[in-house]
Amino acid sequence: MPAIVIVGAQWGDEGKGKATDHLGSEVDYVVKFNGGNNAGHTVVIGEEKYALHLLPSGILTPGTTPVIGNGVVVDIDVLFHEIEGLESRGIDTSRLKLSANAHVIADYNRTLDKVAERFLGSRKIGTTGRGIGPTYADKMNRIGIRVQDLFDEKILRAKVEGALELKGQVLTKIYNRRAPEVEQTVEELLAHADRLAPYVCDTGLLLGQALDRDEVVLLEAGQATLLDVDHGTYPFVTSSSATSGGACTGSGIPPTRIDQVIAIAKAYTTRVGEGPFPTELEDENGEFLRKAGWEYGTTTGRPRRCGWFDTVITRYANRVNGVTDFVLTKLDTLTGLERLPVCVAYDVNGVRHDEMPVNQTDFHHATPIYEYLPGWTEDISGARDFSELPKAAKEYVEFAEEQSGARISVIGVGPEREQAIVRHPLR
Ligand code: GDP
Ligand code: IMO
Ligand code: MG
Repeated sequence: MPAIVIVGAQWGDEGKGKATDHLGSEVDYVVKFNGGNNAGHTVVIGEEKYALHLLPSGILTPGTTPVIGNGVVVDIDVLFHEIEGLESRGIDTSRLKLSANAHVIADYNRTLDKVAERFLGSRKIGTTGRGIGPTYADKMNRIGIRVQDLFDEKILRAKVEGALELKGQVLTKIYNRRAPEVEQTVEELLAHADRLAPYVCDTGLLLGQALDRDEVVLLEAGQATLLDVDHGTYPFVTSSSATSGGACTGSGIPPTRIDQVIAIAKAYTTRVGEGPFPTELEDENGEFLRKAGWEYGTTTGRPRRCGWFDTVITRYANRVNGVTDFVLTKLDTLTGLERLPVCVAYDVNGVRHDEMPVNQTDFHHATPIYEYLPGWTEDISGARDFSELPKAAKEYVEFAEEQSGARISVIGVGPEREQAIVRHPLR
């Protein structure tokens, strides 16, 4: 049985958590393959609302095995906090598996994330402050701490000593902070090692064997295409590979086993943190989208920047990820707007760009070229079939589909599980 990938098409918070939940019992394994607790996925089931950060959204589906893959960076305190939070609400988390090769977020990297942002001043990225960037930097620098290191105290101490040789200097001499103590850091990292042990395994092997048995593996991205460290709006990105290619390296599943890539796109565009955003609205329409879509970060509570739907971005997401299906979320949020501009290309200093400009400066200077579609006023949150949508809403979906270049298989019309219109079943 093949593996399926879910990615974000824009700058995150497209509704990936809800889409994973939608597939629910159709899948046997749900794997988080990148990022860490910078992510925030909201899933609404009946009266209950869950905000997941480090745990894959599949943890909410009974019978599904949630997996944290090797590409993830793990804050162990946050992991247990989340596990305890779900257990107290009656969710069984005992099936969780954690890769022995995943990297661990040490306290000094949380500190470094925050002080580096302060140091950057107006050039800051607007990170979530969770230590994500410095932990991935350590991984690439080959001074990272992995989950498996927590089970060999001697090795752990040597690795912490090695890392702090450099990072202690950076913290004291550049950022004027106290140097972290080796022993204290080791103690903090070891605090939950015994509790962690039962979850840890070779997750690549586990998933490979599951696929051999014809079981369905869903690889769920954190963040999104334009936050990907290679393909996003660098340097205003996260530090991991959030596109479908990252699903392979972050899980140990080869590309030949993936045959479906589902990209989640919001019916408009949002972004948290700094960086270019051509269709951003700083007027009453932006305020309308923020209020109607309740656009406030699940992780940091920051108001999200809002703008019109941008098909240059969704076309790009299609190409980079190899999208087989789009899920268009939050169509209901657009209800009540008289006229809906959709960006189809950019104007950069008088030159039309139908594709993402290769040069970052050009992207910063891109002015959207819009086509204008009529809006609708009817409440669509109760629609369950495409035919029940008003004509203008159907046209909006069809236009987004034609411009983005892959079929829109599911349409979200509200946050709840059943508030979806399925045009083509995803499985
Ligand atoms: P993720 O990070 O991609 O999982 O997305 P988030 O959970 O951060 O943000 C998406 C928000 O939109 C959540 O509050 C969801 O409950 C909500 N949501 C998802 N799909 C829909 C939809 O179709 N309509 C509405 N109104 N809300 C939705
Ligand atoms: P989900 O999975 C939206 C943004 C941050 C910042 C940049 C770098 O919920 O879609 P980081 O802490 O990762 O170094 O911050 O990336 N960012 C997100 N924005 N959704 C997310 O996750 C994000 N994860 C990181 O706001 O601009
Ligand atoms: Mg989110």
